[in-house]
Amino acid sequence: MDSSQLKGNKGPRYRHTADESAPYQTIVVDKLTPIIGAEISGIDLAKPLPDAQFDEVQRALAENLVIFFRDQELSQAQHMDFGRRFGDLHVHPAAPHEPGLPGLMKIHADRDSPRANGEGWHTDVSCDPEPPMGSILYIRVCPPKGGDTLFASMYAAYDALSDRMKAYLDGLTALHDGEHVYRGTYANYGVADKDAYPRAHHPVVRTHPVTGRKALYVNRGFTRHIDGIPLDESDGILRYLYSHIENPIFQCRFRWRANSIAFWDNRCAQHRAMWDYWPHTRSGNRVTIAGDKPV
Ligand code: SIN
Repeated sequence: MDSSQLKGNKGPRYRHTADESAPYQTIVVDKLTPIIGAEISGIDLAKPLPDAQFDEVQRALAENLVIFFRDQELSQAQHMDFGRRFGDLHVHPAAPHEPGLPGLMKIHADRDSPRANGEGWHTDVSCDPEPPMGSILYIRVCPPKGGDTLFASMYAAYDALSDRMKAYLDGLTALHDGEHVYRGTYANYGVADKDAYPRAHHPVVRTHPVTGRKALYVNRGFTRHIDGIPLDESDGILRYLYSHIENPIFQCRFRWRANSIAFWDNRCAQHRAMWDYWPHTRSGNRVTIAGDKPV
């Protein structure tokens, strides 16, 4: 951070000022960092959650952007039921799903895989006109080492921008496109390409519908260009924003064990999966929850 500090100022340029959270009554919330991520215990996601516990899970997600659960034993149906408590299930426009269950996406990489899901920083399916609100990833099979997932707070990334950059970005939109991401990507699973993949224009800075906070909403995976400015200017601005977003101070890193779950809020967090475990297998399912149009 040294080079990004303003001359003469004391302390880091990015100062996190979270509100003091009220104590939780029905779950235990153990933060990974002050900025993003918390491990939740004292809960069994296989059972229908009492309303008070459901409300606290929602609050923990809003406060921490991504929440983690260990040692959960869920059937496919229970995984989808947990997702449905938060909204309708989103069906992925390209990725393979479990037979007969379009709402249950496969996340799998092994010795023969040409790639693993989510290897670059991204927000899930931000090319959709109404991108998913959140994703619930349940990993059953872990490699002996590696396969971590990194998460980054787009609130913190936005807050840390200079006032001049915030003013510049205010009101801008950008094109998010699925074409270059999805075409041919799942051929190894026998998935045929569609005629077209989603594309949509979204605000570069979006306001979270629950917290009211502003979050940066461009990502390396899907965003093609900022609208209404010359392409070279857009490329320069996006390059700056991507390198800014990837500052480790905005991140947490989750080390999976078999039967762990990560539930992230796509409206304010990006993530990146590490495929550092080849030739081992990492396998599970993702339930994705429908969202609304970013504003
Ligand atoms: C994804 O982007 O949904 C995959 C994340 C992971 O496998 O950790």
